[in-house]
Amino acid sequence: MNRIDTIMARMTLPEKLGQLTMTASGYAVTGPVIAGDSTQAIIDGTIGNLLNMVGAGPVHEMQRLAVEKSRLGIPLLIGLDIVHGHRTLFPIPLAEAGLFDDALWERTAREAAREGAAEGLAMTFAPMLDVSRDPRWGRTAEGPGEDPWLNVRIARAKVRGFQGTDLSSAESLAACAKHFVAYGPVTAGREYAAVDISERTLHEVHLPAFAAAVRAGVATVMPAFTDLNGVPMTAHVPLLRGWLRGEMGFDGVIVSDYNAIAELIKHGVAADLVDAAVLALKAGVDIDMMADAYRKGLPVALEQGRVSIDEIDASVRRVLRLKEQLGLFDDPYRRGAVPEPAAAVAERHRLARDVASRAVVLLKNERNTLPLPAETKALAVIGPLADASTEMKGPWWGAGEHEPATSVLAGLRAALKKTELRHAPGVAIDSADDSGIDEAVALCDGADAVLLCLGERATMSGEAASRATPALPGRQQALAEAVTARAHVLGIPVIAILFSGRPLVIPWLAEHADALLAAWFLGREAGHAIADVLTGRVSPGGRTPMSWPRAVGQIPIHYGPRPTGRPMNPADYYTSKYQDVENTPLFAFGHGLTYGRFSYDELRVDPPRVREHETLRVSVGLRNDGARAAEETVFLFAHAKLSRVTRPLLELKGYAKLRLEPGAAGSVTLELPAAELRYLGPDLQPLFEPGEVEILVGPSAEATGLLRQTIELC
Ligand code: BGC
Repeated sequence: MNRIDTIMARMTLPEKLGQLTMTASGYAVTGPVIAGDSTQAIIDGTIGNLLNMVGAGPVHEMQRLAVEKSRLGIPLLIGLDIVHGHRTLFPIPLAEAGLFDDALWERTAREAAREGAAEGLAMTFAPMLDVSRDPRWGRTAEGPGEDPWLNVRIARAKVRGFQGTDLSSAESLAACAKHFVAYGPVTAGREYAAVDISERTLHEVHLPAFAAAVRAGVATVMPAFTDLNGVPMTAHVPLLRGWLRGEMGFDGVIVSDYNAIAELIKHGVAADLVDAAVLALKAGVDIDMMADAYRKGLPVALEQGRVSIDEIDASVRRVLRLKEQLGLFDDPYRRGAVPEPAAAVAERHRLARDVASRAVVLLKNERNTLPLPAETKALAVIGPLADASTEMKGPWWGAGEHEPATSVLAGLRAALKKTELRHAPGVAIDSADDSGIDEAVALCDGADAVLLCLGERATMSGEAASRATPALPGRQQALAEAVTARAHVLGIPVIAILFSGRPLVIPWLAEHADALLAAWFLGREAGHAIADVLTGRVSPGGRTPMSWPRAVGQIPIHYGPRPTGRPMNPADYYTSKYQDVENTPLFAFGHGLTYGRFSYDELRVDPPRVREHETLRVSVGLRNDGARAAEETVFLFAHAKLSRVTRPLLELKGYAKLRLEPGAAGSVTLELPAAELRYLGPDLQPLFEPGEVEILVGPSAEATGLLRQTIELC
């Protein structure tokens, strides 16, 4: 018998259910706190998994109880959300998505895994793979943005980064692809609300990243809290048992979301906790996080014959196998055995700064307002986000809660030693009090430029943080108007820096600011990274992974809608349009300027006729006509001209980067396997359909900037 069989043969039912239970925990001055239980439950073997324990000391202390004091000595699986860094906070995932850089995505996950594992953790509840086309939804901040193809790339990189090549390594964590599936399109952007989408959208937009995560070997998957087309995901037999376990062959652990099994009662599909436990187990959920439905409900259900011991055993086996793969049986103290060397931590902080400066998106830069001229003598640094170091961390600070983070002001002080920096917040982030505006306006006189640091509090995005009007909160718009009016009378430029966990609806600011930056939430090095960009030490390279709406009413908005029979035509009244706002976004998917000025020419696509097993070579010439070296991100899109189901107007199929010195020219070549031009046919099966396909290349999804060429699939 192998180790797992031997253990299982000795387990009692309460011990088995302990392995299917994950309980929140923490460490207070008085000692460990286990939600709803005491540490005795670990010794009794009735809690097999913990979340939220932080620090190698407490983690090992808990592990010792399980390994040395419990009857069977089964190690605990201890997990924590590492959404954008563990102690070292990186930019939020939405900001990182805009890097369009697989190697960097992998590296930040790897570093976060190292840091978490060095504190004894073996699992993280990441990556979050929920496509969002709705900036009202606060969890947009935690995810990849609007594009499914980009999401696939992120899924692969993040799973590789967290898990490494060997799950049992002391530097690897079990990753968790979440939230399965289609959590992003919650009704009207309201958190936890029901989702109702077509099968086609589910398969085209939401499932691909989970398929990619499974193919990359993700160890665990978490079902979403939400109801999908009438069935809560925690009880979704067709998708969990059918698609995930059946079609995809996923044999790892499915861990419920926090209390989600009990919430099946509120959803109205389970009568009580017993019922809820039955539904979740039957759907394939192995671990019950925080509902205590399995421990309380499954013994009753077993007695009533509603579940079998084989069904319970199958889940227990999967949990034990994961613990074995993580090396926990061989050495439960491997992770967190030695503190990380200071040099490794310092290197990680450098990475955080590098990634943060690259993630900044330069949305607008009139008359080369940025970078700041070297002779800048005085800057008015205005706004509630200018001196807000805690906010810089972003919505999911995890174990980084007490770590320092750099504010914009602190970053500028470090970078611009000779510049006079005058600061006033003007207003608080979301208060109605505008009595400080005059003082802020007065700072403009005698300054060479104004930096307006505006946006959201970090906790205005993330979980449970939907906003019906994702615009500037409080009186910030009034502050922006007053300061801009004064600055423009004085003839000095206004540089607005936006902090947010989502694209904001800011048409006025986009029109009136001379330069505009989306800084999202950049993590511990935010201030230094922003200073790097403002001073020109770094040319910004971030691209927005979501379209920015002009008006709330355009939401949901994304770059790849399907065609209409009546495309917008100003000359024809009966066409698809709004009366009060343009159809296009304020800033398109992929938009982001650099300090270079790139022009594109000579798009070449070979061969002009291509078969399914062949690969297209797409190359384009680029020239940097600007005065500074910069790295351009080049996007490749496709659009099938004629197919049996309507296709999105654009579909991302590739990206590449090219760095060019001023005046230099070069080219990028992208390989596109023709098989990637398959689409889901009328029966939702992949179809390679002969016909013409347009290949489009350019700096963003904005139609006017794209070079195009038609090829033929044959
Ligand atoms: C969130 C998950 C998270 C879990 C554990 C839930 O509220 O939806 O994303 O992994 O809590 O912290």
